[in-house]
Amino acid sequence: MRTQVGIVGGGPAGLILSHLLHLRGIDSVVLEVRGREELESEIRAGVLEQGTTDLLVETGVGDRMREEGSVHYGVNLQFGGRRERIDLHELTGKAITLYGQHEVVKDLIRTRLDAGGQILFEAKATELLDLDSEEPKVRFRKDGEEHELVCDFVVGVDGFHGVSRSFIPAEVRTEYERKYPFGWFGVLVEGPPSTEELIYALHERGFSLVSTRSPEIQRLYFQCDPNDEVANWPDERIWKEMHTRLDTDDGWTLTEGKIIHKSIVQMRSFVCEPMQHGRLFLAGDAAHIVPPTGAKGMNLAVADVRVLSRGLVEFYTSGDTGLLASYSEVCLRRVWKASRFSWWMTSMLHRFDEENAFQYRMQVAELGYVTGSRAAATTLAENYVGLPIEAEPKDVEERQTAYDAP
Ligand code: PHB
Repeated sequence: MRTQVGIVGGGPAGLILSHLLHLRGIDSVVLEVRGREELESEIRAGVLEQGTTDLLVETGVGDRMREEGSVHYGVNLQFGGRRERIDLHELTGKAITLYGQHEVVKDLIRTRLDAGGQILFEAKATELLDLDSEEPKVRFRKDGEEHELVCDFVVGVDGFHGVSRSFIPAEVRTEYERKYPFGWFGVLVEGPPSTEELIYALHERGFSLVSTRSPEIQRLYFQCDPNDEVANWPDERIWKEMHTRLDTDDGWTLTEGKIIHKSIVQMRSFVCEPMQHGRLFLAGDAAHIVPPTGAKGMNLAVADVRVLSRGLVEFYTSGDTGLLASYSEVCLRRVWKASRFSWWMTSMLHRFDEENAFQYRMQVAELGYVTGSRAAATTLAENYVGLPIEAEPKDVEERQTAYDAP
């Protein structure tokens, strides 16, 4: 098998890349270890930055998102018995869209398959070869047989636990990691929403978050022990904990519903440098992980492949490798900023040490400052709606954007 760009991983990053390349006449094959159904039903993130939604709309995969997603112009921070709203739109001119990651994945898979795109499901990449040559290869297993995909470039978008990253030799790879001493217990709830806009809350008992997936589905999270188990949390215990952390004196109370899904999410920050080696490029969770408090994970992955597609388009139209050579540097600048924001949001909104009353007071004071000062609120808002993709060589905008109409 031969293609121009071999894409290891069929999550949002891999699928969007394949789509962007297709719009510019570049061929790719996506190898995905899971089956289509599993991929399309996996409950993950739900907040899309404006840059992400713009990209989906401009490239023709945004119709259902525009119909079914919900646009939010602000978010709430709750602390010390108060709830304050950050007006994202007033402060930045931008908004966010709530639309599940697996819905984005469904839209992309359908679009790629309708266009004749090749996505091989249940295809497990086992080895990347000849990455220093002009003909790198991906070895993979499907239906019990070994296959080889010969490419011009290989892109590793196979997530944090994927194999791709390990093919950047250890001598040239540096990994930065921070683990947090808590997890998020996540539940999906059938029933009417409790609030129109997200609520991020700090309480003496820990963090909680009220989010949404649709007018009929609420998404709730609360800080838990990372080693806790779903089985320890019958529905009544969950509701009791959420009410304690969220209900306010003015009579607002969380609306209960039918819990249809429970899971525990681990929290870590991780960055791999560089994000490229020879003809291998990493993007998304394969290269970096952020804790979910800033809602940055999928958006960072999309930004990576946007930068990468520009480089690949430049290579195939002019033979220039300048943008490809700067891929890692350009992405990492933004990745580190988003890592900082996610770490900051996490630090401000979680209980790290129940004994440390001073630290808790500092967090409440910081939340008071962030919601009370326009300058501080703008700092949060501009990061939350997404920082611009910056720092390509100055003339890049004139040269081309990867997703101009085909
Ligand atoms: C979600 O709806 O799943 C969600 C929202 C905001 C976050 C993280 C997750 O910061």
